[in-house]
Amino acid sequence: MSDAPRIVVLAGDGIGPEIVDATTKILDSLGEFTYEPQLLGGCSIDEHGTALTDEVLEACKSADAVLLGAVGGPKWDTTNPDDPRPEQGLLGLRKGMGLYANLRPVRPSPALVDASPLRQDVIAGTDLLVVRELTGGIYFGASGREGDRAYDTCEYTAAEIERIARTAFEAARRRAEGSGRKPKVTSVDKANVLESSRLWREVVIRVAPDYDDVTLDHLLVDNAAMQLVSRPADFDVIVAENLFGDILSDEAAMLTGSLGMLPSASLGADGDPGLFEPVHGSAPDIAGQGVANPLATFLSAALMLRHGLERPDEAARIEAAVDAVLARGLRTADLVPSGTSSVGTAEITSAVLDEL
Ligand code: IPM
Ligand code: MG
Repeated sequence: MSDAPRIVVLAGDGIGPEIVDATTKILDSLGEFTYEPQLLGGCSIDEHGTALTDEVLEACKSADAVLLGAVGGPKWDTTNPDDPRPEQGLLGLRKGMGLYANLRPVRPSPALVDASPLRQDVIAGTDLLVVRELTGGIYFGASGREGDRAYDTCEYTAAEIERIARTAFEAARRRAEGSGRKPKVTSVDKANVLESSRLWREVVIRVAPDYDDVTLDHLLVDNAAMQLVSRPADFDVIVAENLFGDILSDEAAMLTGSLGMLPSASLGADGDPGLFEPVHGSAPDIAGQGVANPLATFLSAALMLRHGLERPDEAARIEAAVDAVLARGLRTADLVPSGTSSVGTAEITSAVLDEL
């Protein structure tokens, strides 16, 4: 039997299949991997009437890692609570695999400083990590519709907050190793209004003494949204509950110039398989045209090698190759003003392969 890592590949919808296909080429150039393609999202709804089948969840749980493209599209958009939605597949997978910690590193590539809508002097030196709680909060609380009334509830237990706080403190420590930088965690909440946020803050403060080498501060989420664009370089690790982390990570992505550049790793208990996916969506408007930016998925594969398969050297090689290609001036359409010339998925993929 081959000991090649077994990766469940969930290409998903829209540009998902294109970017995932490009990513397996990158992985193949580094070593031997066994891919197991499975359906998730809209394509699974079309085939099985549900966005995530039990079989696919089981396959993911027993894999070494899961690589995901993106899910969703106008074809499955609905406001009817009884209809299946592609996003349910993603949420079911996160919950079913116990992936409570979502890591979204934001490090603008030096070659891309011009692509950010923010001024170069504002983003200079930005290197931050959003640690988003992924299996709790309003995404998974009681929700429903009664006539013309609808509700969603945000609930957290101290245990859920504690484990994500520890993830954040430990990540800050790891990032500081060898960098000379003093590790810092910024905890984001809305403790002036929400009870769940007051518990959040209390628990984070209680855990902090175990990491007395890490500076801790707290920001209300509205203030955090503002600080993130006014002084992004002052952040190190940001830890936030599920919905706040979702919103802040899209905002942080624009520091890199494009949502098309941001990778993510979703991790659960030690030793369990992780899920690796770009932060961006399925971009149905450009699907099938060969113009999608695959770089966030390449960088997600790098996170998979580093956090999921203990192959940090190869992870660093992918990251360096992506930087090198951008430094050479290659840009996909999302990274340049419209009307400017750009390259497609295949071209930028071959360029990264050349660098490898
Ligand atoms: C993300 C996405 C998902 C989320 C959607 C597609 C359900 O926005 O991964 O950030 O809200 O978590
Ligand atoms: Mg999001």
